[in-house]
Parts: sequence; C-alpha cells; structure tokens
Amino acid sequence: MILCANFKANKTRQETQAYMAVVESFVSVNAIEDTVIVFPPVTALEHASRNVLIGVQNAYPAQNGAYTGEIALDQLEEFDIKTILIGHSERRHVLGETQAQIVEKFRYFADLGFVIVYCVGEPLDVRECGQEALNSYIDIQLEGIDLEYHDLILAYEPVWAIGTGLTPTIEQIATVHSNLRQKTSAALLYGGSVKVDNVAGIMSIDNVDGVLVGSASLSAHDFCEMIALAAELKNGV
Ligand code: PGA
Repeated sequence: MILCANFKANKTRQETQAYMAVVESFVSVNAIEDTVIVFPPVTALEHASRNVLIGVQNAYPAQNGAYTGEIALDQLEEFDIKTILIGHSERRHVLGETQAQIVEKFRYFADLGFVIVYCVGEPLDVRECGQEALNSYIDIQLEGIDLEYHDLILAYEPVWAIGTGLTPTIEQIATVHSNLRQKTSAALLYGGSVKVDNVAGIMSIDNVDGVLVGSASLSAHDFCEMIALAAELKNGV
C-alpha cells in the first residue's frame, strides 16, 4: 500500500518536525514495508527522512526564474525533493491551474524522474450526471499525461469528497478504479475524507493501492493508525 499525507497549508516547520519524528519512529519500530509519503508545506521541506518520502505539494516547472510566489527546481534540489503532487483539485479549482499548465508541469517533472502523484476527480454536478459524464471528465484530466510513466501514482479524489466528510460508496470507488486500471498499470490511490474509521474498507477495494489523506493525516497518531491498518490488511490480520 501507499499512504500519503497531504498537509496543504497546515503545520509550521516545527510542528512538521515533531510529526515526522512520530511517523518515522512508528514506521521503523513496526518495520513497515508500505510506502509512506508526506507532503508538508514548502517551509518544512528540509526534513531529511530515512524511511518516509517527503514530497512537495506544488512547484513551478523551471530550474529557477521570475515566478513570483513559486518555488522551482533549484529549491527542490537543495532539499533533495524528488516527489511531487500534481493536479490536486485545490490547485485546479481554487488556484485556477489549467490542464495545459498541469500537463506542462507533469512533463517537466517526469523528464527529471520525479515520483509524481497525479490527481483526478469530478465535482458533484458531474457525478450527478452519471457514470459516462464522470468518465469523460476524468479522461479530460488525463489528456496529455503519460499513463505509462514509471514513477506515476494516480490518485482518484472526487472534489465533493475532499474535506467534506462525504465519501463515495465502495461500489462507486471500485467502478472508477477499475476504469482507471484499464488505462494504466500505475498504483491507484483513493483520496477524499479518508480517516481511521473508513481507511481499511477503502484499502480493501479492488484496484485501490493506497490512500491520499488530507485532514485526518494532520494527526500523527491517526496517520500512524492508518499505516498500521494497511500493514494488517497485508498480513491478513
Ligand atoms: P481530505 O483531503 O482527506 O481532507 O478530504 C484529501 C486531499 O485533498 O488530498
């Protein structure tokens, strides 16, 4: 399984350090073999981890330059960051990133060999139009993306499930993931209101290879519990 924590604009550098100490020790004491990735805010990227991957939530596709408010490759290289989240719904819908910009970012970081967690997902009005509308919406979000990229992790995150406490049914997740599985051999994550109470059920769905967790990942205790549940599933406990 792959378990990702997306902090968004939460936690200071100090809070991230304290969090990482808890998660790293949990992963090491319990000999966790699952992949654990944490996406802290950019101010906390410096943390050099041994057993937890640190990724960036966003970066500009350039070595450096006149991109006010952004960070670029030079800043990522300083902290040895080689994992990036691209296409998150908050970047698409709140920050207004277009598919063309997202594709440019994807290509730039894929050429550099980054691990890319690429997000897709439909808003509620699309979901309400039925499965066909949903499939076409996701297809558009996959346009220009190399689905055979070797370090691609694809996350299905319905916009209406993010930060709302709502989740699709098991069947709804299974349907989307089985459609995605036909398009790519990449690991497939589910994201959107994942928490300790529902994570085991979600990770048991066919073609779900892990989860991308926002709010519930902010508690190191809860995130470790989710990591433990993933390990238990694998061991058939
Ligand atoms: P959430 O966010 O877990 O708070 O719904 C998930 C995400 O945005 O990746």
